This record gives sequence, C-alpha cells and structure tokens, in this order.
Amino acid sequence: MNASLPSPVSQPVVAKLTKAAIFLVLTLNPGKESETTVRGLCGDLSSLLRAVGFRDLEGRLSCVMAFGSGAWDRLFGAPRPKDLHPFREIHGVHHAVATPGDILLHIRATRMDLCFELATHIMTRLDGAVAVADEVHGFGYFDDRDLFGFVDGTENPVDRAAIDAAIIGDEDSTFAGGSYVIVQKYLHDMKGWNALPVEQQENIIGRHKLSDIERLDSVKKPYAHNVLTSIEENGQALQIVRDNMPFGEIGKGEFGTYFIGYARSPARTELMLENMFVGKPPGNYDRLLDFSRAVTGCLFFVPTASFLDEVVATDVAPPPVADDNEALQTRPRAFPGDGSLGIGSLKKEAGHE
Ligand code: HEM
Repeated sequence: MNASLPSPVSQPVVAKLTKAAIFLVLTLNPGKESETTVRGLCGDLSSLLRAVGFRDLEGRLSCVMAFGSGAWDRLFGAPRPKDLHPFREIHGVHHAVATPGDILLHIRATRMDLCFELATHIMTRLDGAVAVADEVHGFGYFDDRDLFGFVDGTENPVDRAAIDAAIIGDEDSTFAGGSYVIVQKYLHDMKGWNALPVEQQENIIGRHKLSDIERLDSVKKPYAHNVLTSIEENGQALQIVRDNMPFGEIGKGEFGTYFIGYARSPARTELMLENMFVGKPPGNYDRLLDFSRAVTGCLFFVPTASFLDEVVATDVAPPPVADDNEALQTRPRAFPGDGSLGIGSLKKEAGHE
C-alpha cells in the first residue's frame, strides 16, 4: 500500500452495542443486471446512511455490508480477500449448518425505526437483484441478556482491543481495514432450558446468572461455553467482536439468539465453533447446543467503507493495464484495481466509525 495515502476507513464493525438491529442475509439473483444493481448500491450506501442517520444523530445508526465468497467473485473479481471461503459446515456432536448467503446487511441503532427505515431504502434499491434468505429483527433484552437470561457480550473486547481482534492489518495489506464476519441463527428450546436448575445453567455458560460474575476457574466445568470459546495462540488470547441479539416470535414459539462474530481472520471463529460443536477434546462439547439449534450459517467478508464508496455500477473491470494514476482515477470500475482499495477519494461519511 502507498504510505503517502490516508488509511482506508473501516466499516463500523466495532460500533458500540445497541438496543436494535436488523440482520438481512440476501442471495444475489443470476445475471449481470443484478450485479450492476448491487454495485450501484455499494457506492451510495454511505449517502443513504447519512440521509437516514442524520434524522437522529443520537440514534447511532450504522450499517455493515459484507459479501460471501461466490458473490465477491461475481461483484468484484480479483483480487480477493485471502481467507474468504464459504462457511464450513461442522458435523460434530451437534451440527453447524451452512446456508445460502451472498450479502449480509447488519444494521444497528438505538431505535428500531431507524434500522427499519434504512433497511427499507436499501431493499428498494436492490429490488429485483436479490432475494431475502433470512431476516431477523433483534432487540436488546434488559441489561443485554440473551433469552436464556444471561448477560451476553461482557467479555467482548472494546476500543483498541476490538480493532486488534476484528480489523485486518498487514497480514493481507490489500484488504487492510476489512474484516470477516460469521453469522448463525440459533433457535432455543426454552422449555428444556428453563427446566434446568440455575446452577446447571451457570455450569453451561461459565458465569453467574444474576450477577454476571465469571465462575471461579476452580469450579468452572471444562465444557463451559466461556472455556470452549476462549482460544489462544502462543499464549496470546485470540478474540472476536460479537454483537449477538435476541429475537423471537411468541405465537410461533420461536425464541432465539442471532450470533454475529467479527474477526480479522475467520479461523478464530471457526476454531471456537469447532470447540463448541465437536468439543475440546472431541466429545467435550458445548452443552448450550443441547438447548440451541443453529439453523443458519454463513461467512462474509467486510470490505472497508472506502472500498464501498469507490465501487461503481459497471461490470467488473479487467486488471489494470498500466500503473498510471490518472487513468486509474478516471476509469469507472467495480474494484479500484490498484491494490490501494481506492482510498484516494474518500467521500464524506456519517455513521462509518
Ligand atoms: C446460542 C448462541 C449463543 C449464546 C446464547 C451465547 C451466549 C454467551 C454468553 C451468555 C456469554 C458470557 C458473557 C460474555 O462474555 O459475553 C458468551 C461468551 C462468549 N461467547 Fe457466546 N453465545 C452463543 C454463541 C456463540 C458462538 C457461536 C461463539 C463463537 C463461535 C461464541 C463466542 C463467545 C465468546 C468468545 C465468549 C467470551 C468468552 C470469554 O472470553 O469469556 N458464542 N456467550
């Protein structure tokens, strides 16, 4: 990357937890026209976000747009993020399914109306180009609890640690400032869970239910959720940034947690999933899964906001023929193609932190 250029601006991956969120997983319809429509939205996303978000700046509206492996090739071609691949299904004690998903929209705000308004504008722009594979409206539940009654998010890294956990650095310099995100929709067996004594629930989570205090290592079970999801490399903790949200539909008996985990490498989240579904050692699996069934599973790459701003509707550009700055700046293109992620012409941004 050219050292004289400003750093690319990341999408608001590490935005603060909010009380409302919409998760939209979309599949891209066949045909060039669909691709053109999606690319057209990419370049205008920050402007839509500004228009809706400005109506209540306190509402902290933000949107992350991310792309699955196949969709990346169709929309942007080469180069591609080095660790981008389809979600890997896991057949362990429990089953982590892989389900279709080309585009993820993760819209957050303190108020649902802001999320809803932005989602509506985005989907109007994408009309005919995509189909909705899954849509979840998540809500904050008391003091950030999941529907099992435990506070969810306590050990999330914040500030610098969140950036270190979630944002790609020099390991893939073409895509520095980007991130990977894995989502899974879990449906809970509330009857089964509520039939467990609280102490057993605390064994499963690894924290005290009411106070949210972590259980002492001396009494923690080896299968506790927070034991199996604590991973390290060379003595260093490998963290991810989560923003899980409860959701549900009472009439349908549907109670769930939408898991979303951002990481600078998908391998981190994949290892946590392996520990949960297969067990560490195998068989010592996460008992949370006896009461929570994963019904979706997708992996996406989150390009920088700077990258999205630069995308234009036209077809994927062929690789650049000359390393000529002027030519690169005037040629309309789907991908900046100069390896810089197009950070030379940032548009004004709101909501992109
Ligand atoms: C049904 C779905 C899930 C529920 C209800 C759930 C709930 C929780 C709760 C209550 C905690 C303790 C509080 C906290 O530190 O946030 C926690 C911690 C954590 N969870 Fe989950 N979780 C779910 C799925 C997942 C998945 C799929 C992953 C990763 C692939 C994951 C990764 C983590 C991590 C890394 C921690 C922090 C561990 C620590 O450092 O103490 N969770 N989760």
